[in-house]
Amino acid sequence: MCVVGARPNFMKMAPILRALAAHQPKIPVLLVHTGQHYDMDMSKKLFVDLGLPQPDINLEVGSGSHAQQTAEVMRRFEPALDTHKPSCVLVVGDVNSTLACTLVAVKKDVPVAHVEAGLRSYDRKMPEEINRILTDQVADRLYTTERSAAANLQREGIDLARVCFTGNVMIDSLEASRAHARAPGETLQAHGLDAALLDSPQGYGVVTLHRPSNVDSIESLTAVLQTLLEVSRDLPLVFAMHPRTRSNIERFGLGGLLAGARIAVLPPQGYLEMLGLMAGAALVLTDSGGLQEETTALGVPCLTLRENTERPITVEQGTNTLVGVERTAILQGVADILAGRGKRGRVPEYWDGHAAERIAADLWQWIYGPATAGA
Ligand code: UD1
Repeated sequence: MCVVGARPNFMKMAPILRALAAHQPKIPVLLVHTGQHYDMDMSKKLFVDLGLPQPDINLEVGSGSHAQQTAEVMRRFEPALDTHKPSCVLVVGDVNSTLACTLVAVKKDVPVAHVEAGLRSYDRKMPEEINRILTDQVADRLYTTERSAAANLQREGIDLARVCFTGNVMIDSLEASRAHARAPGETLQAHGLDAALLDSPQGYGVVTLHRPSNVDSIESLTAVLQTLLEVSRDLPLVFAMHPRTRSNIERFGLGGLLAGARIAVLPPQGYLEMLGLMAGAALVLTDSGGLQEETTALGVPCLTLRENTERPITVEQGTNTLVGVERTAILQGVADILAGRGKRGRVPEYWDGHAAERIAADLWQWIYGPATAGA
C-alpha cells in the first residue's frame, strides 16, 4: 500500500509505482491519497503531469491544524489497512500524512518502508523535522537519498541494517519529465501575463515560499516580500504562489507591496510548468526542500531562504546556497549569481533517474525474500 498526501509526495511516488509495476515479478500496489492536498493546482494537475494513476482510495482529509489533520488521516487510514491487509505500507517524504500512516501501520504490525529517510535539519521548529524523526524511528525499512542520512539515523540509535542507500526518486521524476517541460513563456501566457518579462538581459528568477516560518507572521512575510521587490529591480521574478502564502498576503493586507513590480505572480504550477520555469531561470529563490534538489539536478543556482537545510548535499555538491532571510544576504546572493559567481555544482551519487528501481529490487527482497521468510 503506497501512500501520498501532499504535493511533494507525488513526484516521489510516480517513479516508485512505475518501478514496482516493472519489477519481475510485478509487485502489486494499492495507491492511497490521504487528501491532505486537494486543490486542482496542488493535487489533480500533478497526478496528470506525473502520469500517476487515480488513487485506489482517497481519504479526503483536507486541511486543518496539525493535530486535526494528523488525527484525521490516522482515523481514516486504519479501516483501509484493515480491509486490504497489505504486506507493507510505503510512505515518502516528511508531511503529516507520512507520519500519520506510519503510526497506524506499525501499531497494526504492518511493516513500513520510508523513502527519503534520515534527512535532518536539526530544527525542531519545523513540523517536517518532527515527522521525519518519528517516522524513521518506527518504520522498518529506510531508503536514503544521500549518504549523510545514514549517519543521522545512526546517531538516533537506528540499526544500519534497516537502512538502504538507493538515491533520489525525486530526480527519477525530473529525468523522466525533462524533455516534456513546458516553455516558460507559454506558462506566463497561459495566465494572461506578458512573456516579455522573461527576456531581460539577466534572464529571470523563480520564487516559491511556503514555510510557516517565512509566511505565517506579518513581520517575516513583509520583510521577505520587500526583499523580493528589491531583487526584482535587477531581475524580473516569477513567483509561483502556494495557497498558504496567498491567503496570508491577503489576510495581512500585503497585496499592494507587489503591485507594479516586475514580479509575475502565478498560482501553484503543474510539474511540467515548474520544471520549465526552473530549467530556464538565472536563479531560484525558495524555502522548499524539493526545489533545492531539483535545481541541483538542473545545474541552476539556488538561494534557499532558510537558516538550515535537511539536504546538505545540495550545498556541498550542488548549486544550493543557504542565504537565510536577511535582506542583505539575499541581495548579495543574487548579485553574486548575476555576476557569474553562482555555483555550478555536480549531480550527487545515485541521483541518476534509477532510484525507484533500486527501491523496488530491495523491497521485493525485503518483503518476500528468503531472509525475511526465514526470520
Ligand atoms: C505541506 C507539508 C510541507 C510541504 C508542503 C508543500 C506538512 C506538515 N507540511 O505544507 O512539508 O512542503 O505541503 O506544499 O505536512 N491549501 C489549499 N489547497 C490545498 C492544500 C492546502 O488551499 O490543496 C491551503 C489551506 O489553506 C491549508 C494550507 O494551504 O490550510 C496549508 O496546507 P497544509 O497541507 O496544512 O500544509 P502546507 O503548508 O501545504
